[in-house]
Amino acid sequence: MLTRRKYLKNSAMIAAACAVPTELLRAFDSGDLITRAIPRTGEKIPIVGLGTSATFRSVAQGDDVTALRGVIETLVDNGGTVLDTAPSYGASEEVCGQIARKTGNTDKIFWATKINVARRGGGTADPAAAQAQVERSFARLGKDPIDLIQVHNLADIPTQMGIIKEYQEDGRIRYIGTTSTNRRRYADLEKAMRDYRIDFIGVDYAVDNRLSAKTILPLAQELGIAVLVYIPFGRKRLWSRVRGMDVPDWAQEFGADSWGKFFIKYVAAHPAVTCVTPATSKPKNMLDNIGAAYGELPDAATRKMMEELVDGLPSA
Ligand SMILES: NC(=O)c1ccc[n+]([C@@H]2O[C@H](COP(=O)([O-])OP(=O)(O)OC[C@H]3O[C@@H](n4cnc5c(N)ncnc54)[C@H](OP(=O)(O)O)[C@@H]3O)[C@@H](O)[C@H]2O)c1
Repeated sequence: MLTRRKYLKNSAMIAAACAVPTELLRAFDSGDLITRAIPRTGEKIPIVGLGTSATFRSVAQGDDVTALRGVIETLVDNGGTVLDTAPSYGASEEVCGQIARKTGNTDKIFWATKINVARRGGGTADPAAAQAQVERSFARLGKDPIDLIQVHNLADIPTQMGIIKEYQEDGRIRYIGTTSTNRRRYADLEKAMRDYRIDFIGVDYAVDNRLSAKTILPLAQELGIAVLVYIPFGRKRLWSRVRGMDVPDWAQEFGADSWGKFFIKYVAAHPAVTCVTPATSKPKNMLDNIGAAYGELPDAATRKMMEELVDGLPSA
């Protein structure tokens, strides 16, 4: 949560920030952007978005958020829309809302946020506090209806899913879902997917972390649930595994001229995946990441080669 003083300071900084370097804006022809349909409605969204925990969250918490303005403008100007955040990501949700408002991008963004007021370790959620948190998200993001709210980490699903379902029925949330990036809770995630009529899940998936592709992703396809992919780089893990290595020449054939594109295109090519949301705090990395949503995606045989290459690397 931001203090009023910090909020005003951020506002001034965002308004005064130099324009994003022109090479980062409209670097691609957005007519060529790869999109995927949300199974419940057929609405299409770009296959790459932005996550806001990790480094984004640290910068949002700090004294200078101007780089994050560059990240969001680079996302939107290059055709991206999906922005995944959460009330629990420090100042991220509030700062994203603030930047979007100041740059006139609020309505261009597909806002994916979360609900969770339950105590860690299986605690229950106070319904009044959960509702207050949703109302705070409306105020921070400035969009009503909010595009997507998911129950964070499967916490007190009966209470919190009930609340967002009511908002959905009232037309104030377009899509609902739940998230988990903990493989020990995949069975609970599967149960939630079967028990509730949800539109989305968020789950971890990366070229060196493929467990969700065995159970969760096929189930999502079977049940017609959209998938946001989290932690596509394993945070720092994949970066340290390829440190000092060049991307192989054969990957350039499907447009992966950087490791960022290599990792994102691998997960985006899975047919169950609707959108991949890597986090970044740097506009130039945002351009790299959204670039993965252009050009080709690897076919099944190429994905196998990608897995073999990464499996052969030393572990992080
Ligand atoms: N349970 C849940 O609901 C849940 C759990 C985990 C994650 N998530 C969501 O998923 C998002 C993504 O996961 P994550 O943030 O944990 O990890 P991640 O996206 O796998 O990794 C982020 C890291 O990669 C770096 N990076 C990003 N783009 C890069 C590029 N092109 N080149 C080099 N480095 C790059 C970032 O640093 P720089 O800032 O330097 O670019 C940061 O250190 C989260 O932000 C969050 O929105 C949800």
